[in-house]
Order: sequence, then C-alpha cells, then structure tokens
Amino acid sequence: MSTPDLAVYARDGFLVLEGFLPPADCDVLQARAAELVAAFDPGPVRTVFSTRDQGHARDLYFQESGSAIRFFFEEQATDQPVPLALNKIGHALHDLDPVFDRISRQPRLAELANALGFAQPLLLQSMYLFKQPQIGAEVGWHQDATYLHTSPSTVTGFWIALDDADRDNGCLTVLPGAHRGPLRQRFLRENGRMVIRTLDATPWPDIPPVALEARRGTLVVLDGLLPHASAPNRSSRARHAYALHLVDGRADYPADNWLQRPDLPLRGFA
Ligand code: FE2
Repeated sequence: MSTPDLAVYARDGFLVLEGFLPPADCDVLQARAAELVAAFDPGPVRTVFSTRDQGHARDLYFQESGSAIRFFFEEQATDQPVPLALNKIGHALHDLDPVFDRISRQPRLAELANALGFAQPLLLQSMYLFKQPQIGAEVGWHQDATYLHTSPSTVTGFWIALDDADRDNGCLTVLPGAHRGPLRQRFLRENGRMVIRTLDATPWPDIPPVALEARRGTLVVLDGLLPHASAPNRSSRARHAYALHLVDGRADYPADNWLQRPDLPLRGFA
C-alpha cells in the first residue's frame, strides 16, 4: 500500500484511493452479497431503510442490527424482485459472515487504519449498499459521527466502490474541509426509541459540493465529521458499494449510541 497523504486528509476530510480493492475482491463481495440475498426470506413485511422517514427507527429489526446481518428495502421498491429492491444489508457483516470478515480484515486495510493513526482500531459497522438502478434513494447531507459517536470523534468510513460510481448513479458528494466544523446532530437511543438531537445548529459551510466519481475498487476514506451525501440513482446501472466504519478503542463509546453490541464484542483487524 502506498502511504496515504495525511496532509491532504487533514485538509479535506477525505481521501480517494483509486484501485485499492482488487477486482477479484470486488467480485467476491458482490457474489457473496448475492448469495446472502438469495437466502434471505423477507416474509410478509419489508423493512424499509430511509434517512428521511424515522418510522423505521422504532423497528427492533433495525435497532438490533448492529450485531446481526439484516436486510433493508428501498422506500420506492414496489414490485421489484428482492435483489433489485434492497437498499442495504447491515450492520455486522464483517463479524458474522466469513467472506466479509476476510475481505474486511485483510492486512492492507489494517495498514491503512494504522497509517491514519488508529491505535486500537475497532471494526464497528459494515454495510453493503445497493443504490439500485432507477430506485436507489438519495442519502441526505450528514456526518457519520451523528450515527456513530465517540468522544473524541474517531469514526472513520472506508467506502469502497464495487461498481463504477458517477454523477448519474449516485456517487458520493462531499464538502471538502467541512469536517473541521462541529458535529451537528446525534442519532441516539432514548427510552428504547431512536431520536435525533441537534447539538449545534451551525449550517453546512457555503462551499461547492464535490462529486467523488469513483471507479470500481476505489476506496474513499471519510472523516466521521465530514458532511457527505449521495444523489438518487436514476440510471439503469447499479451502484453497489461496501462501507466499513471504524472507531478507536481509546475513545469513549457512549451507551446511548444506536449501535450497541451487548453479545458481540467489537474486534479489531486481528
Ligand atoms: Fe455516511
């Protein structure tokens, strides 16, 4: 692995590492996700994941997904077959599925975490993101630390394109440098329910958003405080991605974070 440019990362709050994941690994993740989907029986109720509608937040299926492999549907899915109707699979693929475990804990990812300054990297959350053709929903502007908070903030995303991602199929969009602003909101557990609390009403800075078009295999490192979003996918092309979120074990992990793993201790790369 070439040394990541830490000065650029500190300046921008993100790093784009082209060709990080070999095509064979992209193939393996996509094939394994397809197997998991084929084995998934949705039953009569489809659990939607939406960043706009917090109705899902009351759903235990979501609340307990931090230590499980669970399937969430697109809001706009109607009569699509399940493989074309899912929004994502989450959130413990990296611990519970041997294939995702192996790819997520490969030495190059451990080296990257080490180079970024993690002393005790913990693999907290994994998501297989489908961003389906035609119906893949927008993800609104947010900071990942809203969902995965530590004190101090250490959450870092490794977002890996498994298909070419561009403006037409909903690539990542970022506000470069805006990770130096405050954490605006927290999504947390309160009396068994999920709520959003505003910590700081500072608006996003008025700087032009940058679309991160990314070829398959590109890894984007995202500082947990960097505002980012992605447009809906209105194209006929899928935009699969795999996102892994790390925290540092030295930081305090609050008991009111939505993601709790009472029966599944967090692990690092070993
Ligand atoms: Fe995010």
